[in-house]
Amino acid sequence: MRVFVEKDYDALSDRASRILIEEIKSKKDLVLGLATGSTPIGTYERLIKAHREEGLDFSQVKSINLDEYVGLDGNHPGSYRYFMDNVLFNHINICKSNTHVPDGTAENLEEYCKAYDSLIDKYGIDIQILGIGSNGHIAFIEPGEELSLHTSIARLKESTINDNARFFNSREEVPDKAISLGILSIFKAKKIILLASGKNKASAIAKILNNDTISTKVPASILKLHPDVTIIVDEEAYSETKI
Ligand code: PGA
Repeated sequence: MRVFVEKDYDALSDRASRILIEEIKSKKDLVLGLATGSTPIGTYERLIKAHREEGLDFSQVKSINLDEYVGLDGNHPGSYRYFMDNVLFNHINICKSNTHVPDGTAENLEEYCKAYDSLIDKYGIDIQILGIGSNGHIAFIEPGEELSLHTSIARLKESTINDNARFFNSREEVPDKAISLGILSIFKAKKIILLASGKNKASAIAKILNNDTISTKVPASILKLHPDVTIIVDEEAYSETKI
């Protein structure tokens, strides 16, 4: 596991985007595993800039997103499909049909989750971007006694609903269930980059880096078992980690 500690959010976004830009340049039909949330926005902005100013080509790139709220369709401003379209896809030359975000309105969710894992198996994710929840979750794999291995329906913790309420008009509007990749679905990615910015991530990052253990109470700690993980944090997110 490599750890880069950057001065601030901009520097973190610079480093993450540099890695992604190199990957896209070296493999035209790269399969990107993408995350939503505030943290990757700066990285996505830099990808858009590279597309506009240097012609970074996404025409053969495929993307597979980590999760989606159950019950929200892609036109809902709180949905992750809406987020991805507006924050990234609408601004680059990626084919929409090559972008995959789980369908939170799928009729048979269990079957849908299985099909989503099959999609991951079919394409194979080259590089997976992850954020981390203040409670240590990745995707919507929440802390607990057990962690789902495959894509499944996750019940969101109170802390996650509170954290994500800022994307909705009120806390009551935040769905309490989501389709989320499981640990094994994420581990199939050849490379993983986890991003964390700000003071409210410091405790979760410290729980991963301050010891040589893994715990289901800190789902992101499981990443220690993956052979190619890069963690990029800013100084605030690193502020509770012992040097
Ligand atoms: P954030 O969310 O980037 O909005 O902080 C990360 C996450 O919950 O995984």
